[in-house]
Amino acid sequence: MALVYVTRKIPDAGIEMLKKVGHAVDVSLKDGVLTKAELVAALSEKEYDAVLCLLTDKIDGEVFDAAPKAKIFANYAVGFDNIDIPEAKKRGIIISNTPEVLTNTVAEHTFALLLSIAHRIAEGDRFTRAGKYIGWAPLLLLGTDVSGKTLGLLGAGRIGSRVAYHAVKSFDMQVVYYDIKQNEYIEKETGAEYRASVEEVLKEADFVSIHVPLLPATRHLINKERLALMKPSAYLINSSRGPVVDEVALVEALKKGSIKGAALDVFENEPKTAPGLTELDNVVLTPHLASATEETRAKMAEVAAENIIAVLSGKEAPNAVRF
Ligand code: GLV
Ligand code: GLV
Repeated sequence: MALVYVTRKIPDAGIEMLKKVGHAVDVSLKDGVLTKAELVAALSEKEYDAVLCLLTDKIDGEVFDAAPKAKIFANYAVGFDNIDIPEAKKRGIIISNTPEVLTNTVAEHTFALLLSIAHRIAEGDRFTRAGKYIGWAPLLLLGTDVSGKTLGLLGAGRIGSRVAYHAVKSFDMQVVYYDIKQNEYIEKETGAEYRASVEEVLKEADFVSIHVPLLPATRHLINKERLALMKPSAYLINSSRGPVVDEVALVEALKKGSIKGAALDVFENEPKTAPGLTELDNVVLTPHLASATEETRAKMAEVAAENIIAVLSGKEAPNAVRF
């Protein structure tokens, strides 16, 4: 039997798996994110062998030191920019994530954002609820067609590829993409064309969708200069990580009309949004929900548990992050 700490209530599926193999599981009782001090205090209470943590937990050297026996920190997310990887490496701690199980769901949400901004769904909803709908009108809230347009992907990993699939198979879109490496699979499956730079994608695309991890090299990948390269009729969609976009520069571009609109699931300083963002009508905003379906959140809990179970029985974590 081993001791596992879970930093916040997650779907039961994962907790049950851990208990079924005989591990004792402590789940934080706080209804919210643990502060650093609370997390350190909680981990120091017992000798935990493994930790299941969330993207809202900042995991650094101090946190690792509070759980000196922990062999693995299993992150309940595909992204792991919340974890200090060099500090984990120094201590020989395994870090795992939850890829694949959320790919379809995140791609669906990305497409929902894209369609919502193009067809003014959220704006139309606000309009109707506000009692402003007084009758059909030929020029009321005109949107933009998606079919036949060009989707520009920044990042063509699993999620980006799935978004390209929907774009091409359901909406007859053309896809151009930039990634640090060319993806033959996406080219073969969808006819997506590689572009050698972010700039080329931005100049060409009618919809730009971001699917890169947050790394020092991708922080503010979309900045003022790059926003200026986008067509005035283009839309930006971000379901990756907030800091990939300079949100203040984005608000400025949206206000000036130098791009047409944006649909965002993630924000630079979550849960805050940049000043002025929520006052704009040409944005659709969701609160970091891209993987948030009942099915996928349960599967993510199972994947995190599987990784912990493997490591605690001396096996390799199936989703160990390589570093
Ligand atoms: C969510 O943002 C994730 O990385 O899984
Ligand atoms: C994330 O899982 C990605 O590779 O897109």
